[in-house]
Amino acid sequence: MTTISAPTGAAHARILGVGSYRPSRVVPNAELVEAIDSSDEWIRTRSGIVERRWATPEETVQMMSVAAARSAMERAGVEPAEIDCVLVATVSHMRQTPAIATSIAAELGTDHPAAFDISAACAGFCHGISMASDFIRGGSARHVLVIGVERLSDLTNLHDRGTAFIFADGAGAVVVGPSETPGIGPVVWGSEGERAELITQNVDWLTWGTAAEKGLPYLAMDGNPVFRWASFAMAKIGQEALDRAGITADQLDCFVPHQANMRIIDALARSMKLPESVKIARDIAEMGNTSAASIPLALDRMIAEGRATSGETALFIAFGAGLVYAAQVIVVP
Ligand code: UT7
Repeated sequence: MTTISAPTGAAHARILGVGSYRPSRVVPNAELVEAIDSSDEWIRTRSGIVERRWATPEETVQMMSVAAARSAMERAGVEPAEIDCVLVATVSHMRQTPAIATSIAAELGTDHPAAFDISAACAGFCHGISMASDFIRGGSARHVLVIGVERLSDLTNLHDRGTAFIFADGAGAVVVGPSETPGIGPVVWGSEGERAELITQNVDWLTWGTAAEKGLPYLAMDGNPVFRWASFAMAKIGQEALDRAGITADQLDCFVPHQANMRIIDALARSMKLPESVKIARDIAEMGNTSAASIPLALDRMIAEGRATSGETALFIAFGAGLVYAAQVIVVP
């Protein structure tokens, strides 16, 4: 029998650099409240959101991704030609095909890497981190660019009380590469497809094709059940990620959860009994919920503000439409 060579990869993987892009237009709560019969106070109290960023027409998914990725590559000290794989987590690329990862890879000047999109909603970035780590350790790639990007303002119904104030735009990116020591812990991930209707595009593209007069499809969410699920079930997932990484809450330096709601962030920290010393990302106040982009945006901000420093541990927990979730402990680059 003929045997074939098996792939061989690096012993470990880690995040080498982070970058992000914040759209220029700041949208305060006051701009949205009239259309949804709400108030600045209600939005702040129930979600923690004070303002969010919405992209201008020039700030496309491609443009924001390229800006975030260039910054991540520069900080990682990795040249475009060294990138073997580009993963783009997004739900707001408006073409069914091709994936936007290929044109982003081309604009970045990479040398024809594998490039494809990940459809795992708000958890897409953490799915990408896990895949990147496995690709590098399995020998399929040496450097992987993982981008989380959204222009959710294109998919938001400004008259929907449950979502108009939540969703926002932005991009974050990391370069993942080989490491001598573990830099990305085991992933804890999964799905609950029986609850897929809780967050969904209001109409599928096939139906929309014959109902164009109804306007563009938009994201619809039954917020309260999602809120309760995220606040309780995700604490167990986060704890499992700590356990599988072999650390306790006392050994954790930073907590960077998906920025969905400030009350969810607080509830998770409480349920997991994170000590006061753990630095918590609260980017949602200024950025709203940017889905797949929220974790790299929040991490980049913590690093820029000196709140997260190289070598520290950080716990990611992400959850969203599907329902899907993913969590892992990483070492800050
Ligand atoms: O990123 C993907 C994952 N997504 C999430 O994790 C989001 C999870 N969900 C949430 O963040 C929260 O459910 C929301 C912020 C969306 C809503 O907060 P809530 O505490 O779950 O509010 P609720 O839907 O239970 O509504 C409470 C009350 C209701 O009034 P009554 O029945 O108590 O009189 C609503 O009619 O608030 C009312 N309400 C509003 N009032 C002012 C609902 N939306 C609004 C609004 N402004 N925009």
